[in-house]
Amino acid sequence: FSVNWDAAAAEKGGYGTFMEKEIHDQPKAVEDTLLGRTDASGRLVLDELRIDPDELKGISKIIVLACGTSAYAGMVAKYAIEHWVRVPVEVELSHEFRYRDPIIDDSTLIVSLSQSGETMDTLMAVRYAKEQGARTLAICNTNGSTIPRESDAVLYTHAGPEIAVASTKAFLAQITASYLLGLYMAQLRGKLFQGEIEDILADLHKIPAKIQEVLDGADDIRQLARDMAQAPSVLFLGRHVGYPVAMEGALKLKEIAYIHAEGFAAGELKHGPIALIDEGQPVFVVVPSPHGRDSLHAKVVSNIQEVRARGAKTITVAEVGDADVVDYSETVFYVPETQPLLMPLLTTVPLQIFACALAAEKGYDVDQPRNLAKSVTVE
Ligand code: G6P
Repeated sequence: FSVNWDAAAAEKGGYGTFMEKEIHDQPKAVEDTLLGRTDASGRLVLDELRIDPDELKGISKIIVLACGTSAYAGMVAKYAIEHWVRVPVEVELSHEFRYRDPIIDDSTLIVSLSQSGETMDTLMAVRYAKEQGARTLAICNTNGSTIPRESDAVLYTHAGPEIAVASTKAFLAQITASYLLGLYMAQLRGKLFQGEIEDILADLHKIPAKIQEVLDGADDIRQLARDMAQAPSVLFLGRHVGYPVAMEGALKLKEIAYIHAEGFAAGELKHGPIALIDEGQPVFVVVPSPHGRDSLHAKVVSNIQEVRARGAKTITVAEVGDADVVDYSETVFYVPETQPLLMPLLTTVPLQIFACALAAEKGYDVDQPRNLAKSVTVE
C-alpha cells in the first residue's frame, strides 16, 4: 500500500500551477474581502481602519501610491473614489513620487496599495509622505507587514497568500477594498444616499458568482491563447476603468509570457499607437458597458473598427448582450453585466487566463517568471 502524496500539488488545489489556482480563487478573494464590512442596518463599518472618521471627513486630496499590478488597482480606485466621494485622487508610482516635490499637507490622505506590504519603493514613499504631514492608509494583503505597520490606518484585503509572482487574486481584492474605502468615505461625507451605497454593495456581493461564470466559460480563452502562442506582440486598448485593465492585461503577458505587450487608453490610439497596427496585429479591446457614460461605448466600438480596418486581429472583452462589437471582433469574450465602475472585477479575468495559458503553452514557468521577484525589497 502506498500513497502518492505530493504536497506541492495538494497546495495547488488540483491545478497545475499556483497562478491557475489563484485565478480560480478569485471569487473567494472578492467575497472574503467584502465579508463583515457592514452592520445590521447595512451601513459600512471599517473598524480595523484605526483612523478617526472626522479625519477622513476633512481629507481634501488623496494620493494613491503603488507599483506594478497594484498601481493599476490604484488607477481603478481613482475612478471610483472621485466619482463617489468627489475628492481629487492622484495615482502615482511609488518610486516616482518623492522626486517630484509633491504637494502634501495634513489634509492629504495617502492610500498605499501593496499585496506584500514590503515593497521598498512604496514603503519609502509612505515614509516620505508621513514626514510631510500626510495621513497614511495601507490597503494590504499581508497581516502585520511593514507598510501597514508604519501607516496610520489599514484596510486588509483577504485574498489569502498569493504565491505566484504575477499578481491575480490580490489585484481583484485590492480593487474591491478600494471600492469599500470609496463607499465608506462617501457614507461619512454624505456624498451618496444610504440606498445608493446599499445598491452598489449589493452589486459587489454579486460579483463572486459572476467571476465564477467567467471562469467556467474560459475554455475558449485558453484555446485562443494556444493559437496565439507565436504572436510577437499584443496590444490592449481600454477606456475609463477599462484603461487600467488593458494595462494590466499587457503587464501579465510581459511578466509571464515574455511577449512584447502594451496597454493604451483607446482615445490615445489616434495620437500615435495606431501607427503600430499592421496586418494580423492582435489587439485586445476592453469594451465599456453600453449602459455607462454617454458615447463612451460608441467611441470604443469605433476604435475597434479603426484597428480592424487596418488589418488588426481584434479580440474584445465586452458585456454580455453587447451586439455592437460582434461585426468587428474576430473573437468576443463576454462577461456578465454589472455597474460600469465595477467592471474591472470581471473584465480582468479573461486577460489573466489568456496570459497564463499562453505562457504555459510556451512551456514557461508561470509561477516563477525569469528576472522577477514576488516582493521587491530594494529601491
Ligand atoms: C513586484 C511583483 C509584482 C507586484 C509588485 C508590487 O514587482 O513582481 O507582481 O505587482 O511587486 O507588489 P506589492 O506587493 O507592493 O503589491
